Amino acid sequence: MNAYLEKFVNNTFNKPKKALDLGAGNFFDVACLKQLGWQAYGVDLITGVNLEKPYLSPKEPFDLVYSNYVIHKLKHPEQLIHTAWRNLKPGGWIFIHTFHKNDKNSKSALTERWFKKILGKYGFNSAQYKTFAFYDNAANHKHWHKILEVKGRKI
Ligand SMILES: C[S@@+](CC[C@H](N)C(=O)[O-])C[C@H]1O[C@@H](n2cnc3c(N)ncnc32)[C@H](O)[C@@H]1O
Repeated sequence: MNAYLEKFVNNTFNKPKKALDLGAGNFFDVACLKQLGWQAYGVDLITGVNLEKPYLSPKEPFDLVYSNYVIHKLKHPEQLIHTAWRNLKPGGWIFIHTFHKNDKNSKSALTERWFKKILGKYGFNSAQYKTFAFYDNAANHKHWHKILEVKGRKI
C-alpha cells in the first residue's frame, strides 16, 4: 500500500470507514484498505470512469476520497477536486499525491498555490500541503520525483 496513505489513514481515522480511490490503477490500495477492514471502492478509465467529467459514485457519501498520481494527467484537474468534494460526507477527507510542477521527471503544472486556490473554492478546510523528494526505484524508472501531498477536510 502507498505508505503515505497508510500513515494518513492510521493517524486520521480511529476505525475502518468508507473510501473511494479516484484513478485506482490496479486497485492495490483499494485491496489493502479492504484488508484493514475498510469499505473501499475505486474507479479508473479502465473501469469506464473518465475523471475529466463529473462523477458521482452510487456508494457515496465517503469518509475519505483519495487519488494518487492521477490529477497531473488530467486536462481539467479541477474536475477531480470537484468530484472528490461531491462524493465526500461533511467532515470527510481528501488525500492527494501528485507530481509537483518543479519535478524534472514529470510533466505537471500543479503547484501548492493552485491546490490552495481550488480547495478553498470548494470549501475544504484544515488543508495541509507537503512537498518532498521521493526516489522511484521501479525498473525503467530509477529517478527522483518531487511529490506534492495534499490533505483537506470538507466543511
Ligand atoms: C500512475 S497510475 C496511478 C494508479 C494508482 N492511483 C496508484 O497510485 O498506483 C495513473 C492512473 O490514472 C488513470 N487515469 C488517467 N487518466 C484518467 C482519466 N481521465 N480518468 C480516469 N482515470 C484516469 C490511469 O488509467 C491509471 O490507472
